[in-house]
Amino acid sequence: MTSVLEIRDVAKRFGATTALDGVDLTLHAGEVHALIGENGAGKSTLMNVLAGAVRPDRGAMQVDGRPYAPAAPGDARRRGVALIHQELCLCPHLSAAENMLLGLEPTRGRGGWVDGSAARRRALTLLEHFGGGPALDPDERVADLPLAAQQVVEICRALAADARILLMDEPTSSLQREDVDRLFALIRQLAARGIAVIYISHFLEEVREIAGRYTILRDGRSVDRGSITGTSNDQLIAHMVGRAALTPWSALRSGEGERHEGNVILTVHDVAAPPVLKHASFELRRGEVLGIAGLMGSGRSELVRALFGLEPRASGRIALHGRQLAVPGASPARRVAQGLGYLSEDRRREGLALALSVADNLTATRFSACSPGWGWLDLDRQRVAARGWIDTLHIRAATPAQPVRTLSGGNQQKVAIGRLLHQDAEVLLLDEPTRGIDVGSRAQIYEAIARCAAQGKAVLMVSSYLPELFGLCNRLAVMSRGRLSPARLIEQWTPETVLATAIGGAREEF
Ligand SMILES: Nc1ncnc2c1ncn2[C@@H]1O[C@H](COP(=O)(O)OP(=O)(O)OP(=O)(O)O)[C@@H](O)[C@H]1O
Ligand SMILES: [Mg+2]
Repeated sequence: MTSVLEIRDVAKRFGATTALDGVDLTLHAGEVHALIGENGAGKSTLMNVLAGAVRPDRGAMQVDGRPYAPAAPGDARRRGVALIHQELCLCPHLSAAENMLLGLEPTRGRGGWVDGSAARRRALTLLEHFGGGPALDPDERVADLPLAAQQVVEICRALAADARILLMDEPTSSLQREDVDRLFALIRQLAARGIAVIYISHFLEEVREIAGRYTILRDGRSVDRGSITGTSNDQLIAHMVGRAALTPWSALRSGEGERHEGNVILTVHDVAAPPVLKHASFELRRGEVLGIAGLMGSGRSELVRALFGLEPRASGRIALHGRQLAVPGASPARRVAQGLGYLSEDRRREGLALALSVADNLTATRFSACSPGWGWLDLDRQRVAARGWIDTLHIRAATPAQPVRTLSGGNQQKVAIGRLLHQDAEVLLLDEPTRGIDVGSRAQIYEAIARCAAQGKAVLMVSSYLPELFGLCNRLAVMSRGRLSPARLIEQWTPETVLATAIGGAREEF
């Protein structure tokens, strides 16, 4: 086998943090190579080194047998290395097509004018390669696209570069199964043409499906490698976490039928938010976790957003402890004051203040907990509160003062969750709470959610990951084309009936 990429002893420190501490990896032509490891293990840093965005402190790399030391992303592109970023790296004010072709725009004549219609045609071809993808208009501004469509734009952008080495950093974290299938079909075609892929994902099932060999990173070191088929999930996880056992999280659902006996906290009646959300009615009770399943774009996110006052055109009735809340004219600030908390599916745009510290982000939802009064902030108290969440959720940060922007993706997600837990809301609205969280850390998030329910809070959780809905929820409802099914006890659902309802659309009973 010819190796297209050799990485030897690559290391990188950021101040006091060692992100990479001796990584070796050999990539063969035409292989899909999985790179796995816990949140903060160094995966994205290694991708950034390969893509020329980060300079390593030591080590050597070769592409096609020649030394490779890209000083800038342009160098990497020229040598045929393209990166699909974990945190999508798009220009929000440019169109989808412009983003896909940024730096590669087709020009007309000698003046270097960008040929808009040629760019559009090229973008459409790229989208076709992707098998159509979610309905996506190449002329639409990226800022107006849902997260899944943005992820497709990011993928097409890497494809546009005609790369020979494709680096995919969690490319499917916002994609629905159907789009994942499309992406996998595309990856197989590319691999058959000799293109080598490094594939990062926290979903081991996905990794098994697409990858041949794997490398595991732990604390910045490559600690194990081999063929996926010859290695069990338990073996992979043991290498990732550096110890044998993990708490199984499928048994977290508590209270064998008691919890959902609690009083009704939130009554939602015929809530709609045009154009996507058509109808949702349900009751949310004290001490329960109510799951919302459904396909991407079915209206799940719009539902939680409407409840939290983020959909200006929402209608319907919402009552909290029997008291009607204003639906049109609601604002997130009012909802927070009323005891609701919200975790957005898009942490970077809506969940976090990236430039601020971990401590500021964790405590911003309720500074009063760190204040002796008179509007002062007691920094010691704030540090103690932040450290508490850092420990509970195992957030990997050098200090509470570290800017959130410099945390790994999964650790940013943990900060977003810690921030919501700190708010101590009575009703938690969670949209994809474990996006980008590693296998081991998911257990800590599930425990935290289960603890909230056990304390008598009410939790509404949107998720695309069925095992976590079945593991954690007491009741479940399925959103299909903007309509929410009746909520039923989790025991009355199977993965098959959830899927059938999600795809089947409205039936008479709704
Ligand atoms: N610019 C930076 N400044 C300081 N520390 C950084 C910076 N970039 C990364 N780090 C640190 O390097 C470590 C590795 O981060 P990296 O993003 O590579 O992890 P990862 O394996 O991709 O994790 P995840 O699965 O959560 O995406 C983390 O501890 C992170 O905080
Ligand atoms: Mg990462």
